[in-house]
Formats: sequence, C-alpha cells, structure tokens
Amino acid sequence: MRSVARSLVTGGAGFIGSNLARGLLAAGHAVVVVDNLSTGTRDNLADVAAEIEFVAGDVRDRDLMARLMRGVEWVFHQAALPSVPRSVADPWSSNDHNVNGTLSVLLAARDAGARRVVYAASSSVYGDTPTLPKRESMPATPLSPYAITKYVGELYCEAFHRLYGLETVALRYFNVFGPRQNPNSEYAAVIPRFIAALLRGEPPVIHGDGEQTRDFTYVDNVVAANLAAAAAPAEAVAGRVFNLGCGGRISLNRLLRELQSITGARVEPVHTAPRPGDVRDSEADISRAAEAFGYRPEVGLEEGLRRTVAWFAERLGVPATREPAAPPVAAAPDARHAWAPRPPTASVPAGEAAPRSGG
Ligand SMILES: NC(=O)c1ccc[n+]([C@@H]2O[C@H](COP(=O)([O-])OP(=O)(O)OC[C@H]3O[C@@H](n4cnc5c(N)ncnc54)[C@H](O)[C@@H]3O)[C@@H](O)[C@H]2O)c1
Repeated sequence: MRSVARSLVTGGAGFIGSNLARGLLAAGHAVVVVDNLSTGTRDNLADVAAEIEFVAGDVRDRDLMARLMRGVEWVFHQAALPSVPRSVADPWSSNDHNVNGTLSVLLAARDAGARRVVYAASSSVYGDTPTLPKRESMPATPLSPYAITKYVGELYCEAFHRLYGLETVALRYFNVFGPRQNPNSEYAAVIPRFIAALLRGEPPVIHGDGEQTRDFTYVDNVVAANLAAAAAPAEAVAGRVFNLGCGGRISLNRLLRELQSITGARVEPVHTAPRPGDVRDSEADISRAAEAFGYRPEVGLEEGLRRTVAWFAERLGVPATREPAAPPVAAAPDARHAWAPRPPTASVPAGEAAPRSGG
C-alpha cells in the first residue's frame, strides 16, 4: 500500500494556510494544521474539518512542535503575524511570533527528520529599491519590523540547510489575494477591503494617490507553487529563495477600476495620506521559480479578481454584479446606499486600502 504523505501546515487557519490545506488534501496528503487563531479562524477550515487534524496551538511552543512533527514529511510554515502597519504599531509581537516561531518550527523539523520545510517569505524584504522587477539576486533592504522578521526567517532557513542539511525553501509571496482573506481587520489587505466596500456600495479608501503598484497574485498560484516547491529535486530548491508573484503590476487606481467593472458598483474612492512603511512599486521576476520547479501563474489577475468577488458576494449574501451598471457615484455620505442595502449580518467595514506592502 502506498503511504500517504503527512504534511504540517502552520498557520493553516489563516487565509493562505487554509487554501493550502485544501490543496494538499486534493493532492492526497494527510494534513495536520496548527494555528493559535490569532488572526485565522476555524471557520476558514469548516468545510474540511473532518478531513484534517486541527491543533489549536502556538508554533513558539517547542514541546508541542516536537510532538506534532513526528512522522511529518512536509512542513508548510505559514504562521506569522502579517502586515507592515501591525508591525510598526507593535514590533515586539511581530518579532516574537515570526522570528521565534520560525526558529521553533525549524528546530522541530530538524530534530524529527522532516523532509522539507517550505517557508512563507515576503516580497517586503526588497524594501523601496526603485529597480523593477525585483530579482532574488538584489540585496534585501527590509524597511519595516515585519519585513525584517520575514527576512530573518529566510536567513534561518538558509542556515538550517547549510548547517544541518535540512531542506528548506523560501517563497517570497507578492501580495496574495483570494477567497478567505480577511477584510475585517484594521490591517486588512487592499483587495478584500476594496471588494467588501464595492459590494456594499461604500467608497473604498486609498492611501496616497493610488498610483502605487503591486504584483497581485491569486492564492491558487501560491498553493500550486508550494506543492511544486515541496516536490522539486533538492538540488534545484533546497536552501534557496524564490519570488512568487504573477510577474506584472497594476496601480491601485486601475485595480479599483477593474473591480468596479466586475461588480458594476461605480462608487468613487476617498484618498487619504500615504502610510509610513508602504513601498511605492512592486513587481516580481518569477523566472527563478519557473526554472527551478516549473512555476507558472495559471490564474491571471482578472480571473482571480472575478473568483474572489464571487466568493465574497456569496459570503455577504449580495449579488456579485449589478445589472445594468450605474453611472459613477461620487464619494458622498449617501454613496453607501447607491445600490445594495447592507446585509443584516455583514460586519465588513468600508474598504480602507492598505496595500500591505509586500504582504
Ligand atoms: N497575504 C499576503 O499577501 C502575504 C504576502 C507575503 C507573505 N505572506 C506570508 O504568508 C503567511 C500567511 O499569511 P496570510 O495572509 O494567510 O495571513 P493570515 O493572518 O491569514 O494567516 C496567518 C496565520 O498564522 C496564525 N498564527 C500567527 N501566529 C501564530 C503562532 N505564533 N502560532 C500559530 N499560529 C499563528 C494566525 O492565526 C493565522 O491563522 C504569513 O507567513 C505571511 O507573512 C503573506
């Protein structure tokens, strides 16, 4: 009988982790999720709860990690406190969860003899260097406590490969979006906030002039890349860092126009002051991942946005599109009532657009 690959997803109750857990189940893995539910929710795993082993716990708990790691082949380390602004407000917590959490996962994986650790790194390590697209050979210049923590995690991954022979792969995600991304947090990313605002007919908020650009990447591409990076030959990936984006970029103003066209909700945005720590432009060169493990973003931006809008609309109990499209509505106090009444149970605030620079 063929043995089933056992995978541990840390942070598996979060946005990317819960999508990844589904991808691993679909690929036939036995999936263990550990999550302290600080930013994730059990709801994100509700429909697969019977198929996974869920452990409510903290990756910084070394005894727990040692226990969970027994028999695990693949580790997908997603647990972290995300968000640049959160880390600016509270650098200690970001460092504690992200740096100590990663070290704890790596130690447990090393000691238990796990085959490979795939680490959720971040494009924020590139900082605000003007060169585009970003290549892995460029120096890291992390600007925020969050970016520093994600970079330290990469360095630990490389060191554990060099020192102990643990196979590690760091995937630098570029602004991931898709179903199950939280639009509610004050640190929420721009796409779920825009979508939630538009679906309610509320004016989205853009920090700055809206001409800042991002390489937005649909979550299914990230899930596929994690699986491919886990399966690739060690000599192609171990101890290395890879960009994971779509290989393009779009301004927030254009992104909003795309979403207006998909939803038919023509509410105009409100612009506020730019946020400290946000980078201006971001775009990935994805050729290294393409060469090493055949990465190719299968779902493009527009299709990803359509799928995401459809998911949020179903969640909020509102139609995804409004026919016929209304003329643009100025951001006035009554603009929120332009097309859709607030659903009675929804608790999504207006879409304040923090691009969560480099995420
Ligand atoms: N979303 C993006 O655009 C993006 C971009 C770059 C990197 N990343 C990285 O991808 C990973 C997943 O991000 P996400 O967007 O899904 O965020 P998320 O907040 O939805 O998921 C993170 C999960 O980790 C859990 N967690 C946090 N600290 C923990 C701890 N100490 N022990 C156990 N669980 C803990 C949270 O409860 C949550 O479920 C993170 O490592 C993040 O830094 C995300």
